[in-house]
Amino acid sequence: MVAIWLMLPAYVTNAFAVLTGGGRPIDLGKNFLDGRRIFGDGKTWKGLIGGIVVGMCTGSAQTVLLPSFGPFPLLVLFCLTFGALFGDLCKSFIKRRLDMERGAKAPIMDQLDFILGAWLFLILFAHPWFIENFTSYHVIVILVITPLLHRITNIIGHKLGKKDVPW
Ligand code: CTP
Ligand code: MG
Repeated sequence: MVAIWLMLPAYVTNAFAVLTGGGRPIDLGKNFLDGRRIFGDGKTWKGLIGGIVVGMCTGSAQTVLLPSFGPFPLLVLFCLTFGALFGDLCKSFIKRRLDMERGAKAPIMDQLDFILGAWLFLILFAHPWFIENFTSYHVIVILVITPLLHRITNIIGHKLGKKDVPW
C-alpha cells in the first residue's frame, strides 16, 4: 500500500492525461523522418498539462494529509508527473516507429510506460528520495499491480468515451 501511495501522483497523472486529453496533438500533426507521425493524435497538449497539474495537486495534498509517508518535495513531484508522461510519450514514439497505429495494443509497454518514466526521472533527479523510499519489494508490488489498475482505468476511460479501445 505504501508503494501505491508513493506512486499515486504518477497514476493520477496518467489517468488525468486520458480524462483531460483531446485537441491539439503534441507533435502538431508532424511526421518523423520515416514519414510516420512523431507521437500521433493520442498525445495532446491538454492531456499533458492536465495530467501534470492534477498529479502535482494530488502529491501536494498527500504531503499535507500524511507527511510521514513521502513527503513529496517539488522535485519529486516533477519526476512523478513529467517522468510519467515522458515515459508515455517515449512509448508512443516507439510504437509509431514500429508502424503501429494510435491505440494499437503493445502489451507491457502500454502498461508500464509511465511507471518506468517516473522511476527514470526519480533515479536521475531525485536519487536519494528514491533510494530512501523505494525498496525492491515496493518495485515488485508496483510492477505486478499496475497492469491490473491500468486495465480497470482504461475500461472506465473507454466507457467515458475517452479511449477508442479499452486498453
Ligand atoms: N492522452 C492525451 N495526451 C497525453 C496522453 C494521453 O490526450 N499526453 C489521451 C488521448 O486521448 C489518448 C488516451 O489519453 O488516446 C489514451 O492514452 P494512450 O493509451 O497512451 O494513447 P493511445 O491513444 O493508445 O495511443 P498510442 O498508440 O500512442 O499509445
Ligand atoms: Mg494505448
